[in-house]
Amino acid sequence: MEVRKLLTIGRVIATSTTPNLEKIDLILNKTDENQIEKGQFISIEEKHGRTVIGLITSIKKHNAYFETHQASVQENVSRDFDSIFPIDEWEVILAEVKPLGEFQKSHNIIKRIKFPVSPGTKATLASPSLISRLLGFKDKGLFLGYIFQNNVKVKIDVSRLLRKHIAILAISGAGKSYAASILLEELHQSESISVLLIDPHGEYGPLISSWDNSDKIEIIKGSYLSICVPELTAREISEFIPEISPVQTRILEKALMEIRKESQLYGLNDIIKWVDSSENVNTRTKEALIGWLHSLSKTYLFSSKSDLNFEKLMEPGKIVVLDLADITSIRSRRMLTHYFLKNLYRLRTKKKIPPIVFVIEEAHQFCSQNSASISKWIIETIAREGRKFYASLCLISQRPVNLSVTALSQCNTHLILRIRNPYDLDFIGRTSESIDRPSLNFLPSLNIGEALLVGEAINFPTFFQIRERKLSINEINPDFESMAKNYAKKWNVRKDRNK
Ligand SMILES: Nc1ncnc2c1ncn2[C@@H]1O[C@H](COP(=O)(O)OP(=O)(O)O)[C@@H](O)[C@H]1O
Ligand SMILES: [Mg+2]
Repeated sequence: MEVRKLLTIGRVIATSTTPNLEKIDLILNKTDENQIEKGQFISIEEKHGRTVIGLITSIKKHNAYFETHQASVQENVSRDFDSIFPIDEWEVILAEVKPLGEFQKSHNIIKRIKFPVSPGTKATLASPSLISRLLGFKDKGLFLGYIFQNNVKVKIDVSRLLRKHIAILAISGAGKSYAASILLEELHQSESISVLLIDPHGEYGPLISSWDNSDKIEIIKGSYLSICVPELTAREISEFIPEISPVQTRILEKALMEIRKESQLYGLNDIIKWVDSSENVNTRTKEALIGWLHSLSKTYLFSSKSDLNFEKLMEPGKIVVLDLADITSIRSRRMLTHYFLKNLYRLRTKKKIPPIVFVIEEAHQFCSQNSASISKWIIETIAREGRKFYASLCLISQRPVNLSVTALSQCNTHLILRIRNPYDLDFIGRTSESIDRPSLNFLPSLNIGEALLVGEAINFPTFFQIRERKLSINEINPDFESMAKNYAKKWNVRKDRNK
């Protein structure tokens, strides 16, 4: 990448209101016309050792000659006026800059600016190291992308990012999953932070199974899983039955107590049989309970034993992907998600597994604002209390409006890619405290992979380009043509085999 020299790009001018603490106007050198763009960071170094850093928020051209009606009059009088009077030379390029902070050479700490800069002071493009300090990047931080305009690597302080929770929000196809895969790459290289990824489309398995350190990666197919009934308490079984009453939960408690006296190996059908044969129970209460237990049993998710050991599963630095692609029922998906999150979170609160990040793709399916779902309660619980236990959420969604407000309001870092829907934009404006109107208005025009990072993990809302993947060339979502070609290849192989 080209390294830009820190040449003077212009000077601070005085207008009737600027420079002030919120705005600085610059007149730019004409020769820099192609080097300067909106979104660039500039620095203004003053004589007494203070440097002010700001962001170019708009660029415009001005020509005093065309400010008056005189221009059109002259135009009519003499057609070749341009050749007599050098109007072009009146043209100037002006930039509006928002001052973000200042630092004194003697202190080296970046502070809010308290006094305006002086008109006439020269401005340069800010150096990458200054910008990194301004934004709070760390040399060994998570490398997520580039601020191309200033040649800066975006390296996020992992502790600041995971101190609370993250939301990745954008329309479908904007690059959310890609951005999440970059985050995973970085966490994988940390070799200490564990991750559970809920993957409803089975997108991540093929990608990350080719990464190095494959013993630190495990992909679990939802259809091979079962929830072990003897490990569940009556309360835990009732969590799968939202409509259950306290009386019915007590019946379940009694059932388990009695059944366990006989055997440790039992399934839902044994519980159903016991409830069915129990006496002194209101028939309606009993029948409803049996109905619900039957419907759980019909999900085929429950069995009398299971190979899953959550404590052993979650080693330090391991990425576990729960691939739900072959489970079509949304209810079953939510049940498995609930089962995983609940067990792993419980183990984390007891410090039996390492600090963990729960990445939830299509989070609106698992904790929606408007409908009850089995997995909503545990996600909201982690959102509220996870921080105390070093359990962090990363919620990914294309429908922020549909996400549980409780969960989303606890995500204090937002990575936002392209958003078009006005309701979503408005909603994000309200939920993201540190996002300003101009940034919000810019979101619909972002390209694939361009993102805005706001919140706890970064000192100022910043637009950047998500970097390309390092670890694998496998596509999460191949394009239509590649998909058709892959299919054709497999189809031909099958045809040859059947000959
Ligand atoms: N930063 C990026 N660099 C290169 N390609 C990207 C980037 N982000 C997304 N893409 C491509 O755009 C397409 C959609 O991205 P994806 O992450 O699946 O979107 P989403 O999850 O938001 O629906 C994919 O083909 C992906 O490879
Ligand atoms: Mg996606």
